[in-house]
Formats: sequence, C-alpha cells, structure tokens
Amino acid sequence: MNQQELEDLLELQGQSDQEKQAGEDLRTGRVGISTTDPVSRRLLEGLTIQLDLEPEHLAPDLAAPQELLRFDMVIADEERAARMRAMLREVGQPETGHLPALVAVRSRSGPAEDPKLRQELPYEGVLVLPEQPSLVTAQLGIILYAHRAYVRRYRDAMEELTLNRRIFRSVTSGITVARAEPDLPLVYVNPAFEIITGYSIEESLGHNCRFLQRDHNDQPGLTLIREAIQEGREAKAILRNYRKDGTPFWNELSISPIRNHQGHLTHFVGIQQDVTSRVEFEEALRESEKLATAGRLAASIAHEINNPLEAITNLIYLARRAESFDEVEQHLSIADAELRRVALLTSQSLRFYKQSSAPQAVKPSDLLDSVLDVYARRLQSMRVEVQKRERTCDSIVCFESELRQVISNLIRNAMDAMKGVGGRLMVRTREASDPHLGTRGVSITIADTGIGMSREVQTRIYDAFYSTKGNNGTGLGLWVTREIVARHKGRLRVRSCNVPGRSWTVFELFLPYQGLVP
Ligand SMILES: Cc1cc2nc3c(=O)[nH]c(=O)nc-3n(C[C@H](O)[C@H](O)[C@H](O)COP(=O)(O)O)c2cc1C
Repeated sequence: MNQQELEDLLELQGQSDQEKQAGEDLRTGRVGISTTDPVSRRLLEGLTIQLDLEPEHLAPDLAAPQELLRFDMVIADEERAARMRAMLREVGQPETGHLPALVAVRSRSGPAEDPKLRQELPYEGVLVLPEQPSLVTAQLGIILYAHRAYVRRYRDAMEELTLNRRIFRSVTSGITVARAEPDLPLVYVNPAFEIITGYSIEESLGHNCRFLQRDHNDQPGLTLIREAIQEGREAKAILRNYRKDGTPFWNELSISPIRNHQGHLTHFVGIQQDVTSRVEFEEALRESEKLATAGRLAASIAHEINNPLEAITNLIYLARRAESFDEVEQHLSIADAELRRVALLTSQSLRFYKQSSAPQAVKPSDLLDSVLDVYARRLQSMRVEVQKRERTCDSIVCFESELRQVISNLIRNAMDAMKGVGGRLMVRTREASDPHLGTRGVSITIADTGIGMSREVQTRIYDAFYSTKGNNGTGLGLWVTREIVARHKGRLRVRSCNVPGRSWTVFELFLPYQGLVP
C-alpha cells in the first residue's frame, strides 16, 4: 500500500470528522523502534517517515514503562515486545486509553508460527521481515488506523462514563443501585442519597434499602414495590422513610430493572426524591377542600331544614286557629311529617361529619340515598328529575365520610351543569368487576343532561385548581375525588358531550368491595 492508497483508506466513505481527525493524528504520531537488526531498523524508520510518522530509537532496556506511553506505536523484536507488553499490563489502561499499538517483529528465517496461537497474540500486529516495503507500509498503516479507531472509541466511552459519573454525583435526587440477588444489597449510592437520608456510602452499601423504613414496613406503597421487584419491572411509590437522625420524610421512590445483553436481570436502579413539602402541601389542600365540602353541605342542610321549620311554624299557627279537632289533627300530622324530615336531615348531617379512622362496611344504596336526600328539595326546585336504579349489591369496605364526599361532589357538579335549565339526573348502582384486575365491586353511575364538557376540559378536570365555575369553584373537588377513589383502589371514568341540544355527562365510579382491605 502506498501513501495514496493509505490516504484513500483514511478517506473511507462516511467517515466522521472525528475519524478524519484521527487520520490527521496518524500522520503526526510518534513511533518507537527497538530492533537488533540494523537493516530492519533502517527499513522501518524509512517506511514510518513515509507514513508521516516520527520514528525514534528505543533502547532495549527501558527504565520505566511510562516511557512507552509517549508513543502511538512501538515496533520491537518479538522477545522485547513481549517484555514491553508485560510492562504495559502493569501500568494498566490509562484514563485516556492511549496505550501504544505494540507491533512485534519476527524474522522470516525464525521458527514457523503456530497458527493456533495466532488468535492469542498479545500484540496489535506482527511484521514478518524481510518483506516488500510497500506491504510493510500497508500493514503498519492498517494497524495504526485500527488502533487509533480503538483509542478514539475507548476515549469516547471514557468521556461518557466520566460525564455520567459527574451527572450521578451532581443530581439532587438520590440514585441507588441494588444487585438483583435475594436481599437486593446496595452496590452504589450517590452523594445526594447521603444528603437526603443522612446515611454515608459506607453505612449503606451491602444493605437492603429497607433500613430507611425502620418499623414502618406495612405501608401500601411497599406492596407496589414488592410486586414490581418480584416481576422485574418498573414501579413508583411514595414511602414513609426515616433519616439517620430519626426525622421522618416522604420519599418518592422509582425503581427500574437493568438487564444485561442476554436479557437477564442483573440490577435495580432506584431514584429517591424527598417530596415531604409537596405531600404536606397536598394534605393541607385536601383538608381545606374537606372543610369547603363540609361548608357547602352545611349550607344545603341549613336550607333544607329551614323549609320544613317554616312549614311547621305555619302549621302550628293554623292548628291554633282551627275550628274542629279533625282540622287540628290534619295540621299536626303534616307538621309531624315535616319534623321527621328535619330529624332525618339532622341525623344524616351528623353522619356526614363523622370522621371515621377505620374503614367500615357500607351499603352503596345507603350512601347514595343519604346524599340524594340532602339535595332532594334543591333538585326539585331546579326542575331536575331524579331517576334512580339501584340493583342490590354487597357492602363496600370504605371510609364512609370520604365516599359521601365523592358522591356529593359528583352530584353537585351534575346540578351545576343543569343550573337554570333543569334536566335529568340518573343515578345507578350495579355489581361489576374491575376490567384490569378482575376484582369484584360496585359500579355507581351518575349521569346528567347538563351542558357537558369539551374534550379539553375533560382532560383537565382532575388537575388541582382547575375549575370551570369561576369564583364559585375551588378547582379541588374532582382532584380530591380522584385521590379518594384511588385510595379505595377504585376507578373513575368520565364521558361527556357538549353538542348544544344533546349534551350530557356520565361519571362512572367503580369501587371494589375490598379495596381498603390490605
Ligand atoms: C434500587 C432500590 C432502591 C430502593 N430504595 C428504597 C428507599 O429509598 N426507601 C425504601 O423504603 N425502600 C427502598 N427500596 C425498597 C426496599 O429495598 C425493599 O425492596 C422493600 O422494602 C420491599 O421489600 P421487603 O418486603 O423485603 O422489605 C429500594 C429497593 C430497590 C431495589
């Protein structure tokens, strides 16, 4: 191969700028030559100069292996090359990846090479001399080109690795890596993990990350993590964790599996984020929404109680002035019915505010009826016809007051959608099963013939602070509703049409019977 052919080789189609740069490097590289035969040495010096390399004579006994690192290529008699290889092995691979290409020179008159050993040769190339100079040039050119390409890729990979290391070290989220073996021991934690948890790298490595939970290992989020680890897939959960100094924090943990080329699970990566302030803020929002719902209900109930009380006052007035006993009895029996309604509303409002700390078994029809009772008169005055179809279902294990809040939110939204125009409110219950998990439960449908929602509105209704009611809405009702439904392992689906004249909205709520049973 002559100079032109070598140039052509370097100009291979599709070469990247980097590769061209490597070609430039090749023509300016330094070559160490260490051969006993002066003829070979002169030949090699001449040919390397032809390749625009800088040859330099190398003494057979090197003082330090580092001397070799100055060169891009070292060409030496095979026996010296073997010693040099041993020296370079001691040095190890420098971060730059810039070990020289080692070329052994073998004499044509020496013993024949064992072909079986060819694969195992520890050199980047072997020159058998004497040989035609053009062939030696070509061989050297190819060896150097291949070596340069290797060095370049190695450097790129090292650069990427260094960058990744820097990223891992500089991110503010905790990053952990656990080996996928029985107790998932940690093999890596980044500095942010140390800052978040207060545990040092030394204290963490080799242990399962559950030490952050202390005795708190029956959290619902852990079930998701356990299942994902079992199945070798991703998962995300918010866990209650404790720092080394004992202070609790909310940890949003995401784990994902890492597989090798054969697809075998080797590690899990965990990302930890301290979301304490977010969780506390959301908790405060939920509380305020609970109070707002309570306030709205109190106003409705006061209104509902006021009407019968007014009626009773009138009936007593009429009874006083009645002319016959029959007339008195008639007025008093109507007053009695009104009083029973007041008593019903009062007992229901007491149940509304009763905050239960433990889940209870509640009949879905009782839940619906209690909310509908509160709104009955209002619905009537709004000219809303209520159509109820309740099929018998078992009781749901739930936080009763929370589900009452959910149903109340959905019914109020339906009422707001029909404000001023009236319409129909359809409420249905039936037994159903979760389409994904197959769990048995109750499906509650609340449908209205109100103004409906556009597609854009439908995609945003669960966002916190999103409201279509202007100053009359907090934008938290459906956000809280969805949270409560999720806590009961239920599902909430909405469909709607806002075409004038045939608009409607349907909320379908699925609640499993045993959603809260661990
Ligand atoms: C990579 C990785 C990181 C984890 N990080 C945490 C963590 O920060 N906090 C935590 O409470 N659990 C963490 N876990 C979960 C626990 O290690 C453990 O899997 C969980 O407690 C469920 O298993 P157990 O029932 O054996 O305790 C992590 C798990 C993995 C695989």
